[in-house]
Amino acid sequence: MIGAGNHPFEEDIAMAHTPALAATPLCDLLGCRLPLVLAGMGGVARAELVAAVSAFGGLGILGMVREPLALIEREVAQVRGRTDRPFGVNLIPSGTARALLRSQVDLCIDLRVPVVELFWDIDEAVIDRLRAAGIVVVHQVGTAQEALHAQAAGAHAIIAQGVEAGGHVRGRQPLMQLLPEVLGCVDVPVAAAGGLADGRDVGRVLALGAQAAVLGTALMMTTESFAHEVHKQRLVQARAADVLLTEDFHVNWPPLAAVRVLPNAVTRGERGDPFTGERQVIGEEEGRPIYCFSTDSPLRSMTGELEAMALYAGLGVGRIDDIVPAAERLERIAQGAAAHLRLLADAPPALSSPVCYAAQVQQGEHAALAGELRRLLAAERAAARAVFETWRQAPEVRLRQRLQPLLAAQARACGVLVRALRSVDVLPDAQAPRRPAAPGRVDALAQARHALRAQWEALLPRLDAALAAEGRQALAACALALDELAHDLPQA
Ligand SMILES: Cc1cc2nc3c(=O)[nH]c(=O)nc-3n(C[C@H](O)[C@H](O)[C@H](O)COP(=O)(O)O)c2cc1C
Repeated sequence: MIGAGNHPFEEDIAMAHTPALAATPLCDLLGCRLPLVLAGMGGVARAELVAAVSAFGGLGILGMVREPLALIEREVAQVRGRTDRPFGVNLIPSGTARALLRSQVDLCIDLRVPVVELFWDIDEAVIDRLRAAGIVVVHQVGTAQEALHAQAAGAHAIIAQGVEAGGHVRGRQPLMQLLPEVLGCVDVPVAAAGGLADGRDVGRVLALGAQAAVLGTALMMTTESFAHEVHKQRLVQARAADVLLTEDFHVNWPPLAAVRVLPNAVTRGERGDPFTGERQVIGEEEGRPIYCFSTDSPLRSMTGELEAMALYAGLGVGRIDDIVPAAERLERIAQGAAAHLRLLADAPPALSSPVCYAAQVQQGEHAALAGELRRLLAAERAAARAVFETWRQAPEVRLRQRLQPLLAAQARACGVLVRALRSVDVLPDAQAPRRPAAPGRVDALAQARHALRAQWEALLPRLDAALAAEGRQALAACALALDELAHDLPQA
């Protein structure tokens, strides 16, 4: 049996579960058995859902953004009352008043919460404090640059969030583009989030090298989630084409933050301009007013104009059409993912390798190519870290801004190499964490790129045409960014 589930159905499911989906090193770090993580959804991911996911063998994360200490304490106690499995707490430093954030962090430390997941702007001091207290810190990011920053600040693991995600969306890249870039740039384990709705989605990100899949919308659509029934029914009826990104729901958050939601009166403009005029109260939660245009989504504990609140949904919503217990959703996903991975493993090389190398390519040639790709990836990763450290320690904002295109181009190059490695059925090496790279002057960065270019030129003809073209584009973007840097800031 997997864990001590409370729901009788969950226990049945858990008993039927075959551990077909292998644990990853990230599972060991998080203390779970399955590479399936519940997104720390504010309001929605409360004790009942978190305990159900952890009891099943995944990692449940309580969504505690801006929540008062008493509620966090109560929810943590309830999780512990339901399961003895590890779990996490999600906090958003930049969306929380400083004093409250400080006491939330103190409380997580006092309560010995095993894992804390952070999101949005990277707060190095918070990561430091949590780490020093022995808490595993996971940081969700929207770009490879942020992943490098979270890693440098001490995060033990990264969640790469694709633009398909429900709720607040940090970056703008599709998951299957962002994930290889992040995998290529950082040494710590990486999980994937955004639009993952079924076993095939999860199998695809695991096959690419993610060490866990993070599920938001798919687990919001469960009996245990704290979302209001009105929200759940809208999700059941929704199609992917309905879902949209908007900045309309902004009260309580740093400005210009996009959220992915279902359409409603607010997104249709029927409630007026979100950024001007008086605040209107549209609902209530245990005495707390809920304002129009706020980031609150309808919860079981709320009353009022629920339809006018933020109806968060990820792009995977169109492929889920029922509300089921979390264990049932996870069981379907775990089985589907395992089946997808078996299919990839059993497929003849032409099928398992999306890159079409000449049919007669021999195993040995694949191994040799993989070795060269690995070496180049290690060198590109080191270059990305050097650019990142130059960015991090840059004395002026102008240099930081000018370094960003180079960082983005570096990340693209790393992403191409990760996908090339996967095309010869090799996962990028798990790297031992390295000492921080030293920042470099622009001319030193340019010299390093020159040497890398020569290695690329030798490899590009051996990649399939589409990947080689992407590699060339990434190299051109690196060269352009360096030229512009040298031109704009010749002394840097
Ligand atoms: C209802 C909802 C609320 C969310 N709230 C938070 C939050 O409070 N903190 C956070 O880090 N992420 C939050 N997210 C984003 C998730 O961490 C994750 O990136 C997202 O759910 C993944 O995409 P998916 O919903 O398509 O699975 C939320 C997502 C949803 C759907």
